[in-house]
Amino acid sequence: MAPVKVSKICCIGAGYVGGPTCAVVALRCPHIQVTIVDLNKARIDAWNSPNFELPIYEPGLEEVVRQARGRNLFFSTDVDKAIREADLIFVSVNTPTKKSGVGAGFAADLNYVESATRRIAAVATTNKIVVEKSTVPCRTAESMRTILEANSKPGTRFDILSNPEFLAEGTAIADLFKPDRVLIGSLQTQEGKDACQSLAEVYANWVPRERILTVGLWSSELSKLAANAMLAQRISSVNALSAICEATGANIDEVAHAVGFDSRIGPKFLRASVGFGGSCFQKDILNLVYLSESLHLPQVAEYWRQVVEMNEYQKRRFSKTVVDTLFNTITGKHIAVLGFAFKADTGDTRESASISLIRDFLQEKAYVTIYDPKVEEAQIWLDLSEALPTWPLETIKKHVSIVHSALEACTQKEAIVIATEWKEFKEIDWQAVYDGMSKPAFVFDGRMILNADELQKIGFTVKVIGRGDRL
Ligand code: UDX
Ligand code: ADP
Repeated sequence: MAPVKVSKICCIGAGYVGGPTCAVVALRCPHIQVTIVDLNKARIDAWNSPNFELPIYEPGLEEVVRQARGRNLFFSTDVDKAIREADLIFVSVNTPTKKSGVGAGFAADLNYVESATRRIAAVATTNKIVVEKSTVPCRTAESMRTILEANSKPGTRFDILSNPEFLAEGTAIADLFKPDRVLIGSLQTQEGKDACQSLAEVYANWVPRERILTVGLWSSELSKLAANAMLAQRISSVNALSAICEATGANIDEVAHAVGFDSRIGPKFLRASVGFGGSCFQKDILNLVYLSESLHLPQVAEYWRQVVEMNEYQKRRFSKTVVDTLFNTITGKHIAVLGFAFKADTGDTRESASISLIRDFLQEKAYVTIYDPKVEEAQIWLDLSEALPTWPLETIKKHVSIVHSALEACTQKEAIVIATEWKEFKEIDWQAVYDGMSKPAFVFDGRMILNADELQKIGFTVKVIGRGDRL
């Protein structure tokens, strides 16, 4: 049997991964009909909104959806119909870290993957290529295959592929247009290789062939965890060095620059920060830790666990610097926090360092004013309620205000904390901010985006992550 030529794709899950990825597939493959489905009606309604008020903010995404929606890109809540019609199905549902039961706090919650898989098995009446797109622990494809095979109807074949997504939020569209690589894992049987080729042909519409890597199923699954673990490890390494810089008067920017010049290391992803966030890094490392423990490799588990622990330390260290600098107490003090998203150019707040900082400030009984250009107010209240489970929302609201500009946030505050590297924070009129602040006025730059010398000339006391006073 020759590889199937894909003409209809269904994507289960219209989130940060499934939405942008399959919108780009539709744009680049006008001959393929792409239907993105989700159980969440509000999310699908937003994807279909007449004014393109999409449920996620991602630079360039609106343009892609404007061009493809209604042409060969559709958003729907009719999951069964889309499954039935498709010859290839991407499973892009969420896989959060388990909150209870075996592996709580470490293992991935595969409940959503499993129910999507069961749905495919229940409604499919023709052969399907099922593509695991969500980041999942190694060997999840095997479980999906067992479920599909145990529940399939006679004459219905399922081929499973792993095709992890490497896009980063904030640059998702650029990453999808020009990926470093596309990775496809399959069983090394003829059927597996044929399915792999079918998917490779879809990507070949815009990705150069030499960037489409085909490997075994489990290598593909592990590669995704490995890539995220190694990226996060770079940040934890540079953040560990930032602590040494602060203690000795070195400058982490200079150190990272010098280190990154080594062509074996390279200059990217060496920016010290207040800690990494996002839905992937922590979750995937904890998955790796859990996997290593399950495989009786405790030293390996411990090695990766340190990457997450260093990140927790970095966040705590930064809030402690704020408290120490403000004369060892922030009780009753007013602090502006600029940025709530886990990085710039996204409205996503999952695991954002900003949440940990604000929680620490509130536990010290400070008053916090938050400004973020893209994060919705309701999301901020939700995240803070989760971070402070014993605090009623009314109590949180007594200590926190959310405002609509950086200038408004900074007025009459004792300190300003930069938690996200939004470009607009570089362009603030700092003289005006200084004039409106209580004195002495402090700025804590957790993202190394401000010109500390200029701020000091204005009169601010400035603390920058990874920069100590010269010895
Ligand atoms: C990451 C991976 O980059 C991507 O390949 C994978 O598919 C999903 O996980 P994402 O979490 O969207 O993507 O963003 P990323 O740019 O990797 O940033 C993650 C966190 O690290 C952010 O909080 C960011 O601010 C922080 N970071 C990144 C640093 O602190 N320093 C850096 O040098 C780079
Ligand atoms: P990610 O960042 O991995 O894309 P998101 O949480 O943004 O994760 O998106 C995952 C989406 O998958 C959610 O919108 C959720 O409603 C959807 N989803 C989860 N389970 C199913 C399912 N069985 N059928 C359809 N959609 C699902």
